[in-house]
Amino acid sequence: MSEAHLVKRIGYVGIGVADVDRATDFYERVGQLSLSERTPEGAFLTGGVEHHWLRLYKSQAPGDFRVGYEAVDAAALEEIAARLDARGIAYEEGGDLSVDRIDRSIRFRNPDGVELEIFTQMMELPTPPRQTTVKMLKLLHAVWSTQDVVAGYQFHADVLGFRDSDWLERRVVFLRCADGYHHSAGLAATPGPAALQHFCILVDTIDDVMRARNNALDQGAELLQDLLRHAASGSIGVYVKDPDLNFSVEFCTSHPQIEDEGYRARILPKSAVTSDLWQEKPPAAAMAPSLPLLAPALEAAPAPRKRA
Ligand SMILES: [Fe+2]
Repeated sequence: MSEAHLVKRIGYVGIGVADVDRATDFYERVGQLSLSERTPEGAFLTGGVEHHWLRLYKSQAPGDFRVGYEAVDAAALEEIAARLDARGIAYEEGGDLSVDRIDRSIRFRNPDGVELEIFTQMMELPTPPRQTTVKMLKLLHAVWSTQDVVAGYQFHADVLGFRDSDWLERRVVFLRCADGYHHSAGLAATPGPAALQHFCILVDTIDDVMRARNNALDQGAELLQDLLRHAASGSIGVYVKDPDLNFSVEFCTSHPQIEDEGYRARILPKSAVTSDLWQEKPPAAAMAPSLPLLAPALEAAPAPRKRA
């Protein structure tokens, strides 16, 4: 019997930006999120009744980020604080509702220096935002880099009670919390300082993914990866590049929830097919990937020789 979960769900992603107005415009037009509140220091955007899924704040170091998770209850927050104390990891008490729009929280940095915030409750909006063409269901996850995936997994499991859903060798791990979604967090081995790789919005159907994709292209955004299906979670999604920073926003659908009982994380190869099941090639094509297509072969054919 595994121990109880401490984290209920992902709450928000906070991103430091150079120009809050420009970033807000991008996440409204391309991200299709709704502005819930603009403050002198930043902006809060959402796709649901939760006050924010995305918090943008003015930063001297654009690309700074923080990921917020909601604790299962107040006792779980206390337990996480006690586990940080036991490891000698400092944390700040936060969660000023009038500023942060969350109640009671603790903020700390994981061993890679990534700032995490665990809160008890987020303000909700009286009415959900109007969703026109893309039906959004929730903020689903954030994936960031780490120096050592196994050590990173151990920290997030031991301190936050996350469970491993799948591994890509020991180079990526997907972590779930109490809401059961395959991953609410992902850690990927990447050299250099810890950085946000992407955050993901779960949408209702493939039609919503495609409408989000086509709108992004219409608005002049760039796709970091076009439509694909991940082997680990089975989700189908696209990745739209942030115009100023080195990460993307993913729109995905068909992301499963896992029952903890009896589940064991798989170790999958880190390969093109694991990343996108639709990249699997039939054996003949895999053996001879460079067979020329008919048209280029004809173009390349030598001109008929004249008779001597
Ligand atoms: Fe993702």
